[in-house]
Amino acid sequence: MLLWSLWSAILLVEAVEEEDVRAGCSTAVNDLVYIVDGSWSVGTSDFETAKQWLNNITSQFDISSHYTQVAVIQYSDTPRLEIPLGIHQGGADLIEAIQSIEYLGGNTQTGRAIKFAVDHVFSASQRASQVKNRIAVVVTDGKSQDDVVDASVEARAQGITVFAVGVGNEITTSELVSIANRPSAAYVLYAEDYTTIDRIRDSMEQKLCEESVCPTRIPVASRDEKGFELMLGMNIHKKAKKIPGSLVSEAAYALTASTDITENTRDIFPEGLPPSYVFVATLRLKGSSSKLTFDLWRVLSKDREIQAAVTLSGNDKTVTFTTPSRTGNWQRITFKAGFENLFDGKWHQLKVLVRQSQVTSFLDDQPIQEMMLEPVEPIYINGKTQVAKRRGADNTVPVEIQKLRLYCDPHQSERETACEIYSVCPLNRTATDEEEDCNCVVGPKGQPGLPGRMGFRGEKGREGPPGPDGKPGKDGKTGEIGPSGFPGMKGEYGPTGLGGDPGLQGLKGDRGEPGLSGEPGPPGPKGLPGEKGELGPSGEAGPMGEPGLPGSGGQLGPPGGKVSADFERPLGRHTH
Ligand SMILES: *[C@@H]1O[C@H](CO)[C@@H](O)[C@H](O)[C@H]1NC(C)=O
Ligand SMILES: *[C@@H]1O[C@H](CO)[C@@H](O)[C@H](O)[C@H]1NC(C)=O
Repeated sequence: MLLWSLWSAILLVEAVEEEDVRAGCSTAVNDLVYIVDGSWSVGTSDFETAKQWLNNITSQFDISSHYTQVAVIQYSDTPRLEIPLGIHQGGADLIEAIQSIEYLGGNTQTGRAIKFAVDHVFSASQRASQVKNRIAVVVTDGKSQDDVVDASVEARAQGITVFAVGVGNEITTSELVSIANRPSAAYVLYAEDYTTIDRIRDSMEQKLCEESVCPTRIPVASRDEKGFELMLGMNIHKKAKKIPGSLVSEAAYALTASTDITENTRDIFPEGLPPSYVFVATLRLKGSSSKLTFDLWRVLSKDREIQAAVTLSGNDKTVTFTTPSRTGNWQRITFKAGFENLFDGKWHQLKVLVRQSQVTSFLDDQPIQEMMLEPVEPIYINGKTQVAKRRGADNTVPVEIQKLRLYCDPHQSERETACEIYSVCPLNRTATDEEEDCNCVVGPKGQPGLPGRMGFRGEKGREGPPGPDGKPGKDGKTGEIGPSGFPGMKGEYGPTGLGGDPGLQGLKGDRGEPGLSGEPGPPGPKGLPGEKGELGPSGEAGPMGEPGLPGSGGQLGPPGGKVSADFERPLGRHTH
């Protein structure tokens, strides 16, 4: 009995190990926080559209505590946590919760809302150690009334990736750029208004997905592109022999029948493939390799079912792309015409641009064909990823490979030129590059020849290649003033104004009706003393009095004669 349960336990463990798992965006482990503008300028109906859009971009994720968790903050003057991280298991619940968020109204304090997300929402995640990507999406229609820089810098310092989505024509580009991660081209999105926000849905979905499944960067020109450098990842540079590439400046690697380029898919694409990507290979097919059918690149599930592949067929000169399908096991798309040159023994660049509903092939920058694609399933990642293997077998086909990359951003298809091939961009190249491209052995430089006799005048040469572009012209004159644009959107409510001046005095009211007579009042206070009366008329003369006493003697009078001269003497001092 004991032995039996031990045995079944072992079987169980093996069964678990055997199981293959799919990986892609939907199974990415993300904490995703939407920070949505609910200020007055948005308005009820646009706010409804914004919620619908959030629901649309959320639908590609598997909402659960294992994969993606979503939180929603609505903000105006203050942020309001509408949905905390991780309270909804399953997309349906979450969609309902987002739909029932009620519009707030108020001013626009975006900086405050971002800070709130950093301090209170991301930090409250129950699975801080497992989560692979912490992503914030800020959706705003206007200019913030507070500073956004500090909060955004803090978010990035904490490893949060911030996308800024600007809607309408009131937005300030510099503000969106400050909010978002760099490069802005990858993290800032615009929509003309809420009615057209649906147009940036694919692009937002793709970017969220790239963030989730493309952990590595490939340095290209001055920017780092998200993607997979398979020359390094698949160890081609270690296992194959280094040879001169299509140009003197390029190196390539030659695979032989005994080179085995096989790696675990988990090590190469740990989170699967994004829904859109560009596969780029620069290669040369010489000898037998130009006649065989082989997978230049393929991903196999654990039971060797093809998950993704680019197959070259030298026999019928075609290229085939294989990817999983939601309706069957896989879909196989063959580009039947236009690839003849790929098998001519020279260097070529092959590009396969995979988008959500179509796949386009290119040879040396020329588009060859575009085909429809059914919805794609995530790939199984417990099997192997291989390079240059015979279809359905494990033999290696000897090819020479210079570049083997998978870029996550489909727009890299426009930026990635085939200029590394001399015949594609001859004007860029020097003579030595041309020698290299002809696949001959370049000998040492010869001695200059002896001067001979002058020959006949030659025929007129053919027209040369166009010269290089001239210098930019001077700035033109300022043009006439154009017609006036459409009226802008209604602005937000301004701050409360200062108190006004007091109003004018009102008019005198109408005379009231006479009232009823009241009760008799209490006695009044004692009156004041009366005023002094006027002077009365003079009385009659009285009788004569008795005679008075005699008076005293008078004073002595002055002597007679001259007046004193005292007043004629000078008063001041003399100066010398
Ligand atoms: C959301 O998706 C539905 C269904 O594809 C579409 O009809 C609708 O226009 C989308 N809305 C927004 C705002 O993205
Ligand atoms: C070729 O020249 C063009 C125009 O000068 C330039 O933009 C491009 O980067 C060059 N390509 C390479 C691979 O040097």
